[in-house]
Amino acid sequence: MRRIKVFDTTLRDGEQSPGCSMNLTEKLQMARQLDTLGVDVIEAGFAIASPDDFKSVEAISQTVEHCKVASLARCTKGDIDAAWNAVKSAKYPRIHVFLATSDIHMEYKLKMTREQVLANISEYVAYAKAYCDDIEFSAEDASRSDWDFLCQCFENAIKAGATVINVPDTVGYSSPDEMFALISYLREHTPGIEKVDISSHCHDDLGMAVANSLACLRAGATQVECTVNGSGERAGNASLEELAMAIKTRGEYYQMETGIVTQQIYKASKLLANITGVPIAPSKSIVGANAFAHESGIHQHGVLANALTYEIMKPEDVGIPQNTMVLGKHSGKHALADRLKELGYELTKEELDEVFTHFKALADKKKSLNDADIEALVLSKQKSIDETYKFVSHVVTTGKDTTNIACIKVEVGGEIKEEVAIGSGPIYAAFKAVDLITGLDVTLDDFSLNAVTEGEDAMGEAVVKLICEGEQYTGRGLSTDVIESSILAYLNGINKIVARG
Ligand code: KIV
Ligand code: ZN
Repeated sequence: MRRIKVFDTTLRDGEQSPGCSMNLTEKLQMARQLDTLGVDVIEAGFAIASPDDFKSVEAISQTVEHCKVASLARCTKGDIDAAWNAVKSAKYPRIHVFLATSDIHMEYKLKMTREQVLANISEYVAYAKAYCDDIEFSAEDASRSDWDFLCQCFENAIKAGATVINVPDTVGYSSPDEMFALISYLREHTPGIEKVDISSHCHDDLGMAVANSLACLRAGATQVECTVNGSGERAGNASLEELAMAIKTRGEYYQMETGIVTQQIYKASKLLANITGVPIAPSKSIVGANAFAHESGIHQHGVLANALTYEIMKPEDVGIPQNTMVLGKHSGKHALADRLKELGYELTKEELDEVFTHFKALADKKKSLNDADIEALVLSKQKSIDETYKFVSHVVTTGKDTTNIACIKVEVGGEIKEEVAIGSGPIYAAFKAVDLITGLDVTLDDFSLNAVTEGEDAMGEAVVKLICEGEQYTGRGLSTDVIESSILAYLNGINKIVARG
Protein backbone atom coordinates (compact mmCIF):
# COMPACT_ATOMS: atom_id res chain seq x y z
CA MET A 1 0.00 0.00 0.00
CA ARG A 2 1.32 3.43 -0.90
CA ARG A 3 0.67 6.07 1.75
CA ILE A 4 -0.81 9.12 -0.04
CA LYS A 5 -0.34 12.57 1.53
CA VAL A 6 -3.47 14.69 1.78
CA PHE A 7 -3.01 18.43 1.29
CA ASP A 8 -6.12 20.32 2.33
CA THR A 9 -6.74 23.73 0.80
CA THR A 10 -10.21 24.44 2.23
CA LEU A 11 -8.84 27.52 3.98
CA ARG A 12 -7.17 28.90 0.85
CA ASP A 13 -8.68 27.69 -2.45
CA GLY A 14 -11.95 26.80 -0.70
CA GLU A 15 -12.17 30.14 1.04
CA GLN A 16 -11.58 31.91 -2.29
CA SER A 17 -15.03 30.86 -3.54
CA PRO A 18 -17.88 33.35 -3.23
CA GLY A 19 -19.78 33.23 0.05
CA CYS A 20 -17.16 31.07 1.76
CA SER A 21 -15.15 33.67 3.63
CA MET A 22 -14.44 32.94 7.28
CA ASN A 23 -13.22 35.03 10.19
CA LEU A 24 -10.16 34.19 12.28
CA THR A 25 -12.01 32.19 14.93
CA GLU A 26 -13.84 30.19 12.28
CA LYS A 27 -10.62 29.42 10.41
CA LEU A 28 -9.03 28.24 13.64
CA GLN A 29 -12.00 25.97 14.39
CA MET A 30 -11.74 24.52 10.91
CA ALA A 31 -7.95 24.12 11.14
CA ARG A 32 -8.24 22.22 14.42
CA GLN A 33 -10.80 19.89 12.88
CA LEU A 34 -8.56 19.33 9.83
CA ASP A 35 -5.71 18.46 12.18
CA THR A 36 -7.95 15.95 13.97
CA LEU A 37 -9.13 14.63 10.61
CA GLY A 38 -5.55 13.65 9.89
CA VAL A 39 -4.68 15.71 6.82
CA ASP A 40 -0.93 15.92 6.18
CA VAL A 41 -0.82 19.58 5.12
CA ILE A 42 -3.16 22.50 5.73
CA GLU A 43 -2.87 25.33 3.25
CA ALA A 44 -3.87 28.02 5.69
CA GLY A 45 -4.17 30.95 3.28
CA PHE A 46 -2.46 33.45 1.03
CA ALA A 47 -0.54 35.53 3.58
CA ILE A 48 0.12 38.53 1.34
CA ALA A 49 -3.54 38.90 0.34
CA SER A 50 -4.52 41.07 3.34
CA PRO A 51 -3.53 41.69 6.96
CA ASP A 52 -6.42 39.44 8.04
CA ASP A 53 -5.17 36.61 5.83
CA PHE A 54 -1.69 37.00 7.27
CA LYS A 55 -3.05 36.87 10.84
CA SER A 56 -5.07 33.74 10.10
CA VAL A 57 -2.12 31.88 8.59
CA GLU A 58 0.03 32.90 11.56
CA ALA A 59 -2.59 31.89 14.12
CA ILE A 60 -3.16 28.52 12.43
CA SER A 61 0.61 27.95 12.36
CA GLN A 62 0.71 28.51 16.10
CA THR A 63 -2.29 26.28 16.73
CA VAL A 64 -2.16 23.04 14.78
CA GLU A 65 -0.18 20.24 16.33
CA HIS A 66 0.30 17.47 13.83
CA CYS A 67 0.19 18.64 10.26
CA LYS A 68 2.31 20.89 8.09
CA VAL A 69 1.10 24.43 7.49
CA ALA A 70 1.56 26.04 4.09
CA SER A 71 1.01 29.56 2.81
CA LEU A 72 0.67 30.42 -0.86
CA ALA A 73 3.00 32.92 -2.55
CA ARG A 74 3.45 34.23 -6.08
CA CYS A 75 6.98 34.53 -7.46
CA THR A 76 7.77 37.82 -5.72
CA LYS A 77 9.94 38.59 -2.72
CA GLY A 78 7.06 40.35 -0.95
CA ASP A 79 4.79 37.32 -1.26
CA ILE A 80 7.46 34.89 -0.13
CA ASP A 81 8.52 37.11 2.81
CA ALA A 82 4.89 37.34 3.95
CA ALA A 83 4.34 33.59 3.51
CA TRP A 84 7.44 32.78 5.55
CA ASN A 85 6.67 35.26 8.31
CA ALA A 86 3.18 33.80 8.61
CA VAL A 87 4.21 30.11 8.74
CA LYS A 88 7.58 30.28 10.47
CA SER A 89 6.10 29.53 13.89
CA ALA A 90 4.49 26.29 12.65
CA LYS A 91 5.98 22.99 13.80
CA TYR A 92 6.26 21.99 10.14
CA PRO A 93 6.17 25.09 7.90
CA ARG A 94 5.90 25.01 4.10
CA ILE A 95 6.05 27.81 1.52
CA HIS A 96 3.93 27.15 -1.57
CA VAL A 97 5.25 29.14 -4.54
CA PHE A 98 3.35 29.21 -7.83
CA LEU A 99 3.72 30.56 -11.35
CA ALA A 100 1.64 29.92 -14.45
CA THR A 101 3.25 27.83 -17.18
CA SER A 102 0.64 27.55 -19.97
CA ASP A 103 1.16 29.63 -23.11
CA ILE A 104 -2.16 31.40 -22.67
CA HIS A 105 -1.39 32.42 -19.07
CA MET A 106 2.20 33.44 -19.87
CA GLU A 107 1.19 35.56 -22.87
CA TYR A 108 -1.96 37.26 -21.60
CA LYS A 109 -1.73 37.24 -17.81
CA LEU A 110 1.96 37.25 -16.96
CA LYS A 111 3.22 38.85 -20.19
CA MET A 112 6.36 36.79 -19.80
CA THR A 113 8.37 34.61 -22.18
CA ARG A 114 9.15 30.97 -21.45
CA GLU A 115 12.74 31.95 -20.63
CA GLN A 116 11.57 34.54 -18.11
CA VAL A 117 9.24 32.03 -16.47
CA LEU A 118 12.02 29.45 -16.19
CA ALA A 119 14.37 32.06 -14.69
CA ASN A 120 11.69 33.23 -12.24
CA ILE A 121 11.04 29.69 -11.03
CA SER A 122 14.75 29.16 -10.29
CA GLU A 123 15.13 32.54 -8.61
CA TYR A 124 12.04 32.49 -6.40
CA VAL A 125 12.09 28.85 -5.39
CA ALA A 126 15.71 29.43 -4.29
CA TYR A 127 14.63 32.61 -2.48
CA ALA A 128 11.95 30.66 -0.57
CA LYS A 129 14.37 27.80 0.10
CA ALA A 130 16.68 30.17 1.95
CA TYR A 131 13.89 30.52 4.52
CA CYS A 132 12.32 27.10 4.64
CA ASP A 133 13.29 23.51 3.89
CA ASP A 134 9.88 22.43 2.68
CA ILE A 135 9.01 24.18 -0.59
CA GLU A 136 6.14 23.31 -2.89
CA PHE A 137 6.19 24.65 -6.42
CA SER A 138 2.96 24.75 -8.45
CA ALA A 139 2.85 25.24 -12.19
CA GLU A 140 -0.49 27.01 -12.51
CA ASP A 141 -2.54 25.72 -15.47
CA ALA A 142 -0.08 22.81 -15.77
CA SER A 143 -2.60 20.61 -17.58
CA ARG A 144 -2.79 23.11 -20.49
CA SER A 145 0.98 23.70 -20.59
CA ASP A 146 3.38 22.33 -23.15
CA TRP A 147 4.58 19.06 -21.59
CA ASP A 148 8.29 19.46 -22.39
CA PHE A 149 8.28 23.03 -21.15
CA LEU A 150 6.52 21.86 -17.98
CA CYS A 151 9.28 19.29 -17.44
CA GLN A 152 11.85 22.10 -17.67
CA CYS A 153 9.88 24.23 -15.19
CA PHE A 154 9.75 21.38 -12.68
CA GLU A 155 13.42 20.54 -13.29
CA ASN A 156 14.34 24.13 -12.42
CA ALA A 157 12.12 24.09 -9.35
CA ILE A 158 13.66 20.85 -8.10
CA LYS A 159 17.21 22.13 -8.72
CA ALA A 160 16.36 25.29 -6.75
CA GLY A 161 15.19 23.20 -3.79
CA ALA A 162 11.50 22.34 -4.25
CA THR A 163 10.47 19.29 -2.24
CA VAL A 164 7.02 19.01 -3.81
CA ILE A 165 5.99 19.75 -7.38
CA ASN A 166 2.29 20.32 -7.93
CA VAL A 167 0.43 19.73 -11.20
CA PRO A 168 -2.80 21.75 -11.15
CA ASP A 169 -5.66 21.26 -13.56
CA THR A 170 -6.48 24.87 -12.75
CA VAL A 171 -9.52 25.25 -14.99
CA GLY A 172 -10.86 21.70 -14.60
CA TYR A 173 -10.32 20.96 -18.29
CA SER A 174 -8.62 17.58 -18.27
CA SER A 175 -9.87 14.02 -18.33
CA PRO A 176 -8.56 11.16 -16.18
CA ASP A 177 -6.70 9.59 -19.14
CA GLU A 178 -4.95 12.87 -19.86
CA MET A 179 -3.94 13.44 -16.24
CA PHE A 180 -2.64 9.88 -16.01
CA ALA A 181 -0.58 10.41 -19.17
CA LEU A 182 0.70 13.80 -17.99
CA ILE A 183 1.94 12.52 -14.62
CA SER A 184 3.52 9.50 -16.32
CA TYR A 185 5.27 11.79 -18.83
CA LEU A 186 6.55 14.10 -16.09
CA ARG A 187 7.91 11.13 -14.14
CA GLU A 188 9.76 9.91 -17.18
CA HIS A 189 11.12 13.20 -18.46
CA THR A 190 11.86 15.43 -15.45
CA PRO A 191 15.36 14.99 -14.03
CA GLY A 192 15.32 14.74 -10.23
CA ILE A 193 11.56 14.10 -9.98
CA GLU A 194 12.12 10.82 -8.13
CA LYS A 195 13.48 12.81 -5.14
CA VAL A 196 10.34 14.92 -4.61
CA ASP A 197 6.65 14.50 -3.96
CA ILE A 198 4.40 14.80 -7.00
CA SER A 199 1.10 16.45 -6.22
CA SER A 200 -2.23 16.76 -8.03
CA HIS A 201 -4.57 19.74 -7.72
CA CYS A 202 -7.75 19.29 -9.75
CA HIS A 203 -10.72 21.61 -10.17
CA ASP A 204 -14.22 20.34 -10.86
CA ASP A 205 -15.46 22.44 -13.79
CA LEU A 206 -16.35 19.33 -15.81
CA GLY A 207 -17.20 17.26 -12.73
CA MET A 208 -14.00 15.22 -12.96
CA ALA A 209 -11.82 16.58 -10.17
CA VAL A 210 -11.94 13.44 -8.03
CA ALA A 211 -11.55 11.08 -11.01
CA ASN A 212 -8.66 13.18 -12.32
CA SER A 213 -6.97 13.21 -8.90
CA LEU A 214 -7.27 9.43 -8.60
CA ALA A 215 -5.79 9.07 -12.09
CA CYS A 216 -2.82 11.23 -11.01
CA LEU A 217 -2.32 9.05 -7.93
CA ARG A 218 -2.49 5.88 -10.01
CA ALA A 219 0.16 7.35 -12.30
CA GLY A 220 2.47 7.86 -9.34
CA ALA A 221 1.52 11.15 -7.67
CA THR A 222 2.20 10.98 -3.94
CA GLN A 223 0.18 13.97 -2.70
CA VAL A 224 -3.40 14.97 -3.47
CA GLU A 225 -4.81 18.48 -2.98
CA CYS A 226 -8.46 18.76 -2.05
CA THR A 227 -11.06 20.59 0.01
CA VAL A 228 -13.81 19.65 2.44
CA ASN A 229 -17.18 19.47 0.64
CA GLY A 230 -15.30 20.11 -2.62
CA SER A 231 -15.41 23.84 -1.91
CA GLY A 232 -13.30 26.15 -4.07
CA GLU A 233 -13.09 28.49 -7.04
CA ARG A 234 -16.03 28.18 -9.48
CA ALA A 235 -17.16 24.51 -9.42
CA GLY A 236 -14.72 23.79 -6.60
CA ASN A 237 -11.77 21.47 -5.97
CA ALA A 238 -11.54 17.71 -5.65
CA SER A 239 -13.54 16.75 -2.58
CA LEU A 240 -11.52 15.46 0.36
CA GLU A 241 -14.26 13.16 1.60
CA GLU A 242 -14.80 11.55 -1.81
CA LEU A 243 -11.08 10.96 -2.32
CA ALA A 244 -10.52 9.62 1.18
CA MET A 245 -13.49 7.25 0.96
CA ALA A 246 -12.67 6.12 -2.58
CA ILE A 247 -9.18 5.21 -1.41
CA LYS A 248 -10.46 3.54 1.75
CA THR A 249 -13.33 1.66 0.11
CA ARG A 250 -11.27 0.56 -2.92
CA GLY A 251 -7.93 0.28 -1.16
CA GLU A 252 -7.24 -3.16 -2.64
CA TYR A 253 -7.81 -1.84 -6.15
CA TYR A 254 -5.79 1.36 -5.78
CA GLN A 255 -3.19 -0.19 -3.48
CA MET A 256 -3.14 3.10 -1.56
CA GLU A 257 -4.08 4.47 1.82
CA THR A 258 -4.25 7.89 3.45
CA GLY A 259 -3.89 9.06 7.04
CA ILE A 260 -7.45 10.41 7.10
CA VAL A 261 -9.45 9.45 10.19
CA THR A 262 -12.57 8.88 8.15
CA GLN A 263 -14.83 8.91 11.23
CA GLN A 264 -14.08 12.67 11.46
CA ILE A 265 -15.27 13.41 7.92
CA TYR A 266 -18.90 14.14 8.72
CA LYS A 267 -17.94 16.55 11.50
CA ALA A 268 -15.53 18.44 9.24
CA SER A 269 -18.15 18.67 6.53
CA LYS A 270 -20.86 19.89 8.93
CA LEU A 271 -18.52 22.40 10.51
CA LEU A 272 -17.63 23.95 7.17
CA ALA A 273 -21.26 24.10 6.05
CA ASN A 274 -22.17 25.67 9.36
CA ILE A 275 -19.42 28.28 9.26
CA THR A 276 -19.90 29.32 5.63
CA GLY A 277 -23.65 28.84 5.42
CA VAL A 278 -23.14 26.94 2.17
CA PRO A 279 -25.48 23.94 2.39
CA ILE A 280 -24.53 20.42 1.36
CA ALA A 281 -26.67 19.05 -1.48
CA PRO A 282 -28.75 16.09 -0.25
CA SER A 283 -27.33 13.85 -2.99
CA LYS A 284 -23.70 14.87 -2.37
CA SER A 285 -21.54 11.73 -2.15
CA ILE A 286 -20.39 10.68 1.33
CA VAL A 287 -21.81 13.62 3.34
CA GLY A 288 -25.17 14.46 1.71
CA ALA A 289 -28.31 13.79 3.75
CA ASN A 290 -29.34 11.04 1.30
CA ALA A 291 -25.90 9.51 0.82
CA PHE A 292 -26.80 6.50 2.95
CA ALA A 293 -30.60 6.56 2.66
CA HIS A 294 -32.31 3.71 0.81
CA GLU A 295 -35.68 4.84 -0.47
CA SER A 296 -36.80 2.28 -3.02
CA GLY A 297 -38.55 -0.85 -1.78
CA ILE A 298 -36.23 -3.14 -3.72
CA HIS A 299 -33.16 -1.52 -2.15
CA GLN A 300 -34.67 -1.57 1.34
CA HIS A 301 -35.52 -5.23 0.98
CA GLY A 302 -31.97 -6.00 -0.16
CA VAL A 303 -30.34 -4.01 2.63
CA LEU A 304 -32.50 -5.69 5.26
CA ALA A 305 -31.53 -9.11 3.92
CA ASN A 306 -27.84 -8.20 3.71
CA ALA A 307 -26.52 -4.62 3.92
CA LEU A 308 -23.79 -5.43 1.40
CA THR A 309 -26.38 -5.74 -1.38
CA TYR A 310 -26.52 -1.97 -1.75
CA GLU A 311 -24.11 -0.52 0.84
CA ILE A 312 -20.45 -0.15 -0.09
CA MET A 313 -19.66 1.97 2.99
CA LYS A 314 -21.21 2.30 6.41
CA PRO A 315 -22.43 5.68 7.67
CA GLU A 316 -20.41 5.18 10.84
CA ASP A 317 -17.23 4.92 8.72
CA VAL A 318 -17.56 8.63 7.98
CA GLY A 319 -18.78 9.53 11.46
CA ILE A 320 -22.49 9.95 10.81
CA PRO A 321 -24.03 9.56 14.27
CA GLN A 322 -25.92 6.28 14.52
CA ASN A 323 -27.33 6.29 17.97
CA THR A 324 -30.33 8.55 17.65
CA MET A 325 -30.81 8.74 21.40
CA VAL A 326 -33.47 11.25 22.27
CA LEU A 327 -33.03 13.75 25.08
CA GLY A 328 -35.79 15.80 26.66
CA LYS A 329 -36.49 18.41 29.29
CA HIS A 330 -35.78 15.99 32.10
CA SER A 331 -32.32 15.15 30.78
CA GLY A 332 -29.50 16.56 32.86
CA LYS A 333 -26.24 18.23 31.95
CA HIS A 334 -24.37 14.92 32.22
CA ALA A 335 -26.61 13.22 29.70
CA LEU A 336 -26.13 16.14 27.33
CA ALA A 337 -22.35 16.17 27.87
CA ASP A 338 -22.17 12.40 27.26
CA ARG A 339 -24.19 12.65 24.08
CA LEU A 340 -22.09 15.55 22.83
CA LYS A 341 -18.94 13.56 23.49
CA GLU A 342 -20.34 10.62 21.54
CA LEU A 343 -21.12 13.01 18.70
CA GLY A 344 -17.48 14.15 18.79
CA TYR A 345 -17.85 17.54 20.50
CA GLU A 346 -15.48 18.30 23.36
CA LEU A 347 -16.79 21.45 25.07
CA THR A 348 -15.23 23.57 27.77
CA LYS A 349 -17.23 23.94 31.00
CA GLU A 350 -18.38 27.43 29.99
CA GLU A 351 -19.44 26.25 26.54
CA LEU A 352 -21.32 23.31 28.02
CA ASP A 353 -23.11 25.63 30.48
CA GLU A 354 -24.23 27.85 27.65
CA VAL A 355 -25.35 25.00 25.40
CA PHE A 356 -27.19 23.45 28.35
CA THR A 357 -29.11 26.68 29.01
CA HIS A 358 -30.25 26.76 25.39
CA PHE A 359 -30.92 23.03 25.45
CA LYS A 360 -33.29 23.46 28.40
CA ALA A 361 -35.09 26.38 26.73
CA LEU A 362 -35.48 24.35 23.57
CA ALA A 363 -36.59 21.22 25.44
CA ASP A 364 -39.41 23.30 26.92
CA LYS A 365 -40.70 24.04 23.43
CA LYS A 366 -39.88 20.76 21.74
CA LYS A 367 -40.82 17.48 23.42
CA SER A 368 -37.74 15.56 22.39
CA LEU A 369 -34.37 16.52 20.97
CA ASN A 370 -32.52 14.15 18.71
CA ASP A 371 -28.89 14.19 17.55
CA ALA A 372 -29.54 16.62 14.70
CA ASP A 373 -31.14 19.12 17.12
CA ILE A 374 -28.26 18.81 19.57
CA GLU A 375 -25.66 19.13 16.88
CA ALA A 376 -27.34 22.19 15.37
CA LEU A 377 -27.54 23.75 18.82
CA VAL A 378 -23.88 23.24 19.63
CA LEU A 379 -22.74 24.46 16.22
CA SER A 380 -24.91 27.56 16.50
CA LYS A 381 -23.51 28.35 19.94
CA GLN A 382 -19.87 27.99 19.00
CA LYS A 383 -18.60 31.49 19.56
CA SER A 384 -16.76 32.94 16.63
CA ILE A 385 -17.26 36.56 17.68
CA ASP A 386 -18.14 38.75 20.63
CA GLU A 387 -21.83 39.51 20.70
CA THR A 388 -21.98 43.32 20.57
CA TYR A 389 -25.70 43.20 19.82
CA LYS A 390 -27.59 40.65 21.91
CA PHE A 391 -31.10 39.68 20.94
CA VAL A 392 -33.69 40.31 23.68
CA SER A 393 -37.16 40.00 22.16
CA HIS A 394 -39.37 40.59 19.16
CA VAL A 395 -43.00 41.26 18.45
CA VAL A 396 -44.13 41.00 14.86
CA THR A 397 -47.58 41.53 13.41
CA THR A 398 -48.21 40.07 10.01
CA GLY A 399 -51.02 38.74 7.87
CA LYS A 400 -52.69 39.05 4.50
CA ASP A 401 -53.65 42.61 3.52
CA THR A 402 -52.13 44.02 6.66
CA THR A 403 -48.97 46.01 7.32
CA ASN A 404 -46.04 43.97 8.58
CA ILE A 405 -44.70 45.63 11.71
CA ALA A 406 -41.74 44.48 13.77
CA CYS A 407 -40.70 45.72 17.17
CA ILE A 408 -37.23 44.51 18.14
CA LYS A 409 -35.36 44.79 21.43
CA VAL A 410 -31.61 44.34 21.51
CA GLU A 411 -29.06 44.74 24.31
CA VAL A 412 -26.00 46.82 23.48
CA GLY A 413 -23.35 47.39 26.14
CA GLY A 414 -25.80 46.65 28.95
CA GLU A 415 -28.44 49.03 27.55
CA ILE A 416 -31.71 47.92 25.93
CA LYS A 417 -32.47 49.49 22.58
CA GLU A 418 -35.83 49.16 20.89
CA GLU A 419 -36.99 50.07 17.39
CA VAL A 420 -40.09 49.56 15.27
CA ALA A 421 -40.17 49.24 11.49
CA ILE A 422 -42.55 48.22 8.76
CA GLY A 423 -41.61 46.11 5.76
CA SER A 424 -42.96 44.15 2.82
CA GLY A 425 -42.83 40.99 4.96
CA PRO A 426 -42.40 40.24 8.67
CA ILE A 427 -38.75 39.24 8.37
CA TYR A 428 -37.85 42.24 6.26
CA ALA A 429 -39.59 44.50 8.81
CA ALA A 430 -37.55 42.87 11.60
CA PHE A 431 -34.28 43.38 9.71
CA LYS A 432 -35.16 47.04 9.14
CA ALA A 433 -35.80 47.51 12.85
CA VAL A 434 -32.38 45.98 13.59
CA ASP A 435 -30.83 48.40 11.05
CA LEU A 436 -32.40 51.32 12.92
CA ILE A 437 -30.75 50.07 16.12
CA THR A 438 -27.29 49.47 14.65
CA GLY A 439 -27.20 52.39 12.20
CA LEU A 440 -25.07 50.22 9.90
CA ASP A 441 -25.35 50.35 6.13
CA VAL A 442 -25.84 46.67 5.38
CA THR A 443 -27.22 44.94 2.27
CA LEU A 444 -28.94 41.57 2.55
CA ASP A 445 -27.33 39.53 -0.23
CA ASP A 446 -28.89 36.16 0.48
CA PHE A 447 -31.30 34.59 2.92
CA SER A 448 -32.32 30.97 3.45
CA LEU A 449 -34.36 29.07 5.96
CA ASN A 450 -34.22 25.31 6.50
CA ALA A 451 -35.73 22.85 8.94
CA VAL A 452 -33.00 21.11 10.94
CA THR A 453 -35.07 18.02 11.60
CA GLU A 454 -38.38 16.60 10.50
CA GLY A 455 -41.69 17.14 12.25
CA GLU A 456 -43.97 20.00 13.11
CA ASP A 457 -41.81 21.22 15.98
CA ALA A 458 -38.59 21.17 13.93
CA MET A 459 -36.07 23.91 14.53
CA GLY A 460 -35.63 26.40 11.73
CA GLU A 461 -32.12 27.43 10.83
CA ALA A 462 -31.74 30.78 9.07
CA VAL A 463 -28.64 31.80 7.14
CA VAL A 464 -28.04 35.35 5.91
CA LYS A 465 -25.28 36.73 3.73
CA LEU A 466 -24.71 40.41 4.44
CA ILE A 467 -22.61 42.83 2.45
CA CYS A 468 -20.92 45.73 4.21
CA GLU A 469 -18.25 47.88 2.58
CA GLY A 470 -17.77 45.31 -0.19
CA GLU A 471 -17.16 42.37 2.18
CA GLN A 472 -19.53 39.47 2.65
CA TYR A 473 -20.44 38.13 6.11
CA THR A 474 -22.41 34.99 6.97
CA GLY A 475 -24.83 34.95 9.90
CA ARG A 476 -26.76 31.98 11.28
CA GLY A 477 -29.60 31.67 13.73
CA LEU A 478 -31.51 28.75 15.18
CA SER A 479 -34.90 28.61 16.85
CA THR A 480 -38.23 26.83 16.73
CA ASP A 481 -39.64 30.23 15.71
CA VAL A 482 -38.50 31.04 12.19
CA ILE A 483 -38.80 34.80 12.65
CA GLU A 484 -36.58 34.57 15.72
CA SER A 485 -34.02 32.42 13.89
CA SER A 486 -33.98 35.01 11.08
CA ILE A 487 -33.37 37.86 13.52
CA LEU A 488 -30.66 35.84 15.30
CA ALA A 489 -28.97 35.14 11.95
CA TYR A 490 -29.12 38.82 11.01
CA LEU A 491 -27.65 39.88 14.36
CA ASN A 492 -24.96 37.20 14.08
CA GLY A 493 -23.92 38.66 10.71
CA ILE A 494 -24.01 42.20 12.13
CA ASN A 495 -21.84 41.14 15.09
CA LYS A 496 -19.27 39.75 12.66
CA ILE A 497 -19.22 43.07 10.81
CA VAL A 498 -18.74 44.98 14.06
CA ALA A 499 -16.01 42.56 15.22
CA ARG A 500 -14.10 43.13 11.99
CA GLY A 501 -14.00 46.87 12.83
O1 KIV B 1 -5.80 26.02 -9.22
C1 KIV B 1 -4.61 26.38 -9.14
O2 KIV B 1 -3.85 26.38 -10.09
C2 KIV B 1 -4.16 26.83 -7.83
C3 KIV B 1 -2.68 27.03 -7.67
C4 KIV B 1 -2.39 28.33 -7.02
C5 KIV B 1 -2.09 25.88 -6.95
O3 KIV B 1 -4.93 26.95 -6.90
ZN1 ZN C 1 -6.81 25.81 -7.33
